[in-house]
Amino acid sequence: MSEALKDKISITLNQNPKPLIPKEEITFGKYFTDHMLEMRWSAKGGWKKPEIKPYGPLMLDPASLVLHYGLECFEGMKAYRKNDGEVVLFRPEMNMKRLNTSAERLMLPTFDTDLVLEGIKELVRLDSRWIYKDEGYSLYIRPTMIGSEATLNMTSSGEAILYVICCPVGPYFGSAVTLLANTEDVRAWPGGVGSKKVGGNYAPCIKPAYDARAKGADQVLWLLGDDHKVTEAGTMNFMVYWINSDGDRELITAPLDGTILPGITRDSLLHIAGKIEGVKVTERIFTMSELIKAQSENRLLECFGCGTACIVSPVKAIIYDSKTYKVPLDPNNASAQYSPLARKLYDQLLFIQYGKSDEYQSWTP
Ligand code: COI
Repeated sequence: MSEALKDKISITLNQNPKPLIPKEEITFGKYFTDHMLEMRWSAKGGWKKPEIKPYGPLMLDPASLVLHYGLECFEGMKAYRKNDGEVVLFRPEMNMKRLNTSAERLMLPTFDTDLVLEGIKELVRLDSRWIYKDEGYSLYIRPTMIGSEATLNMTSSGEAILYVICCPVGPYFGSAVTLLANTEDVRAWPGGVGSKKVGGNYAPCIKPAYDARAKGADQVLWLLGDDHKVTEAGTMNFMVYWINSDGDRELITAPLDGTILPGITRDSLLHIAGKIEGVKVTERIFTMSELIKAQSENRLLECFGCGTACIVSPVKAIIYDSKTYKVPLDPNNASAQYSPLARKLYDQLLFIQYGKSDEYQSWTP
């Protein structure tokens, strides 16, 4: 660690690092690395120096605002180990910016993104043994901010904690999922906070996810409004590849109108797809009736969800109004788990995330 960094961040090393979890036992979000980053804020004193310290419980007053009114926001980002051993983060400045936007909405303090990013890089460096060497493994990083002032008054928080924890994740070759288009519960609405990554958006989605499973689906397809606008799937952004009514091959996803999370994977895939010849990329509102019409006219080519955790998750069927609509996977390969465009985007994105693409070096600083 450089002298300059020592001035900015204090570090207490974990003297009892855990044994690594066998690769086969890794499941998303269950095992955590040896260290965490913590930075405390108070209205009086501002941000204190960030600290990297052994992973462990937070001490919170039971009256802390986060525990009562949900003053919490978070990020999901990943670090990858390149072939030469160097560890890189994927578009981390976008996560830092989004976390500040979410914090602002909750009247939590904004922070110096360069400093926190330096801290995250050091944390990842210290815990890099948790990024298994084999292809497909990475480190999932969860920056989180909570309002920690002890008060039951519904006020902005005079104290906050920004902390970052990490967990190893393995290759995700998820098989295609079935979605239940939910016509009762709504994830986000105009004027709401659907575009912010706040914990309060996630808790109410757990029961609908269980309800979907009870009806034979894997996840929820979130709709909005009486016209059933198609918005997101589970905790992911949602994309449809179809032949549109003009006969163009089009990758379409809902626009960032305030109800959609501005996903970094979403942004990256739209960018990559925009460079594929013959694929038109469109961000616009579209509805279930358009989707069903395309399916019935054999114009629906693929559907998939995308997000940091899963990267790309192909969809094989959508249950809507008690009917099951099949979504094609690969007409040329009966046992395909990934449809061709989803697979291509997934492979290209992973190539970039592992720092292998000369063109996209700026995405893995
Ligand atoms: C992510 O993909 O990083 C997410 O935020 C999903 C998470 C809720 C599992």
